[in-house]
Amino acid sequence: MNAPQDMLEKATNTANYAYAPYSHFSVGACLRDEHGNLYAGCNIENVAYGSTLCAEAVALGSLIAHGGKQIKEVLIVFASNELCSPCGACRQRLWEFANPNCTVHLCTLDGKYQSVIMKELLPFPFEPKTVKNT
Ligand code: THU
Repeated sequence: MNAPQDMLEKATNTANYAYAPYSHFSVGACLRDEHGNLYAGCNIENVAYGSTLCAEAVALGSLIAHGGKQIKEVLIVFASNELCSPCGACRQRLWEFANPNCTVHLCTLDGKYQSVIMKELLPFPFEPKTVKNT
């Protein structure tokens, strides 16, 4: 599957705004919601390193804050020439709002990409149904 150009453009543009003075590693994420709307985010680091926000978390915050309910497609662009994959915490964040078959496009700055699905990224998830009172 080709990486969708609209999402790639939005994620790449937003990655340019990344605040990454500590790692010097920029990430841009773009999410498509159930209405087809796109939301992008970049990583925002902090001198208290654990307070850093990942690009996926920032994009998800935007989708939710604008009334989106579901993630239909994900694209992440990493400032690397090697294929990268999202961190474990972001896999869990995305899982909450995405279908297990939701496509996740993993892109590099130099044009490489690989498309996977959520359940490949998180094969044995901690799910809402696991928590009996939800
Ligand atoms: N980062 C993300 O934005 N998303 C990921 O999935 C992995 C890591 C960011 C956090 C930090 O600013 C930088 O990449 C290096 O870890």
